[in-house]
Amino acid sequence: CYDKRFVGKKVLVTAGPTYEALDPVRFIGNHSSGKMGFALAEAVAALGGDVVLITGPTNQKVKHKQIQVIPVVSANDMLESVQKNWSQMDMGIFAAAVADYRPAHSETQKIKKTQDQLEIILEKNPDILSWASANKTDQKVVGFALETQNGIEYAQNKLEKKQLDAIVLNEIGEPGVGFGTDTNSVKLIFKNNKLRSFELQSKEQLAFSLLNELMTNLYE
Ligand code: PMT
Repeated sequence: CYDKRFVGKKVLVTAGPTYEALDPVRFIGNHSSGKMGFALAEAVAALGGDVVLITGPTNQKVKHKQIQVIPVVSANDMLESVQKNWSQMDMGIFAAAVADYRPAHSETQKIKKTQDQLEIILEKNPDILSWASANKTDQKVVGFALETQNGIEYAQNKLEKKQLDAIVLNEIGEPGVGFGTDTNSVKLIFKNNKLRSFELQSKEQLAFSLLNELMTNLYE
């Protein structure tokens, strides 16, 4: 099912969570399974595009042989891989759930259970999407926004602040939506404020619907 708008296009997709190490055996992470990002990568490849998929730790497997998979662990690793690949890309779709903070110190030995309370200092991670947007030549930049409230307002703020071409709002709370599920329902918002809602559907189907809408609005 090639789509001539994708043939020859190089698309970078980020997926999954990041793990931020506390010590050699523990980390701070989140519930992202990688399914949404992998579905997008598979759909781009099925439509004829070249995909670099940069993914945090996940059980997902790629099916399409054309997808170049770069496994990473932390936000810093993910940033480094994005930086290496970005200048060759035509588009970036940033579906990863990147940790906003990491432990300021990762202990070299396992933390012992000696204290009743343990304080962990966190420091801010780099924002990968903002880096990509600030360093684009003519790439189209599509972000995601995961929100639990005021979704449209917060997503529009991210769209503007990070200078994106479009943002996919994933408002969680309803069954079947967001982390770990095989289905999803999102809103796609463009920088001219055009908004499209996508009803609950499989992440695979949604990936094709989103890509079609992105192509129509960003390139035609
Ligand atoms: O993986 P699944 O289980 O299938 O779930 C899919 C999903 C819910 C993870 C996905 O649809 C989704 O919403 N991904 C974005 C999650 C997120 O971290 O959103 P955010 O609003 O915190 O981040 C905004 C954007 O900035 C995102 O594009 C994110 O990738 C990017 N970001 C955030 C922080 C950071 N340090 N660097 C980033 O690049």
